[in-house]
Amino acid sequence: MPTRLVRIARLDQLAAGRGVAVAVAGEAIALFRIDGQTFAIDDACARCGSSLAGGTLRGATVACAGCGWEYDVRTGAVSGVPALRIDTFEVTVVDSVVMLAVEPEWSPNA
Ligand code: FES
Repeated sequence: MPTRLVRIARLDQLAAGRGVAVAVAGEAIALFRIDGQTFAIDDACARCGSSLAGGTLRGATVACAGCGWEYDVRTGAVSGVPALRIDTFEVTVVDSVVMLAVEPEWSPNA
């Protein structure tokens, strides 16, 4: 299904070693920049809802600031809980702008 791109952040907002939370259509998304690549996951920790953007990033793993659950920001996988995975989102960088891929009919007010 073709998608379209919507602007969600500037690349210079993403500092190495930490995440940034952005609100997209009422949903909080955590962005991480790792080795020149940008990753986007659901910002809400699956355990108690803390912001994962505020967590500690080591390599491609973010440790939740709440009670320490760890997530692979590339896949959404939860360390030690194989059956659990949080949402990931397709993003791309165009002219130093982070763009989220959305369905053609997507609306920020949906
Ligand atoms: S809030 Fe994330 S582990 Fe508890």
